[in-house]
Amino acid sequence: MESLFIEIDHVAIAVHDIEAAIKWYEDVFGATVEHREDVKSDGVYEALVNVAESYIQLLTPTREDSPVAKYLAKNGEGLHHIAYRVKDCAEALNAAKESGCRVIDEKPRPGSRNTTVAFIHPKTSFGTLIELVEVN
Ligand code: CO
Repeated sequence: MESLFIEIDHVAIAVHDIEAAIKWYEDVFGATVEHREDVKSDGVYEALVNVAESYIQLLTPTREDSPVAKYLAKNGEGLHHIAYRVKDCAEALNAAKESGCRVIDEKPRPGSRNTTVAFIHPKTSFGTLIELVEVN
């Protein structure tokens, strides 16, 4: 079978103070922010820090009931999910479902920066929350 992965789209890190985290990546590594977005549907504010063709996605909650707020309360700051870029999000999601994976999104949905995304539950992916990202 040919791999459905094209690239690592982003590695997401949950933080309390996103401006402090951005400044740290800028000051320590000279990294640059390509995109910022208030993702209302997920209750998060994100900043995408460039790493070649991929990103570090810094995430901070914008409301108390957002999944990232719950994650921070339970685990503290740190690695939240890994996003793989795929050609077709629905195809990759279906492949995961057909193999018995527990999914968070039954169907692909809009993500930030005009992408189409779906999340796979860490329970069936060796402890990693996986996001499938189709760049439109
Ligand atoms: Co993400």
